[in-house]
Amino acid sequence: MNLREDQRRWLADAQAQWNDVMQPGAQPLGTHLFGPPLSPPDAAMASARLFATRSAALHALPRGGAIAELGTQAGRYARQILDVCQPEALHLFDLEFDTLRAKAPEVAADPRVHLHVGDSSTNLEAFPDRSFDWIYIDGDHSEGGVQRDASCGAGKIRDDGLLVFNNYTVWSPLELTDYGILPVVNRMLASGEWEVAYLALHPLMYCDIALRRPGRD
Ligand SMILES: C[S@@+](CC[C@H](N)C(=O)[O-])C[C@H]1O[C@@H](n2cnc3c(N)ncnc32)[C@H](O)[C@@H]1O
Repeated sequence: MNLREDQRRWLADAQAQWNDVMQPGAQPLGTHLFGPPLSPPDAAMASARLFATRSAALHALPRGGAIAELGTQAGRYARQILDVCQPEALHLFDLEFDTLRAKAPEVAADPRVHLHVGDSSTNLEAFPDRSFDWIYIDGDHSEGGVQRDASCGAGKIRDDGLLVFNNYTVWSPLELTDYGILPVVNRMLASGEWEVAYLALHPLMYCDIALRRPGRD
């Protein structure tokens, strides 16, 4: 990393304090902070594809149809979804859309785009079951928030649809905060009711992982 000297000293202090919290010998793998490690079963990976980026993954997704993005912010991915996937309808869910209107007014004004302000799982619940070809989950990153979006989203995709999770990890190095995506996804895979359709890498490992029901590839 390109750190200034004062930043390097700050980091060394922070690492010392963090190591006290982690106590590596006493608490292997940070189980006391991140919960028991749970690896997905091998069988769930059998037909998974691997992409270099989430942008590349979009080219393998179906054209047209209805798509939902839970958590839109400035519309960076929404714009790509519109351009590449050409959906008939793109439903965007967020707590606010001022950021989208300021940063990507053309996305907010696109006639295919429908804005749903408020909590994503609450608003998604109002849709009929099997409404969407795929749903992108990138809203509340806490374990409870991801679980609510995933549980609701599972009923709202078609039988051959995808649930795509951004940030398949337990930790955000840019925000120094925990993320709940990995435990939620790994529990879904351990249930045997889901398999991995693809993993899309990210330069800082904020990877995307797409789940589908088995036998739907
Ligand atoms: C990381 S940003 C989304 C980025 C966007 N998906 C992209 O890739 O360009 C997360 C967004 O989720 C929204 N959010 C957080 N909690 C939410 C909730 N409970 N319901 C709906 N949106 C939420 C935040 O307001 C924020 O705009």
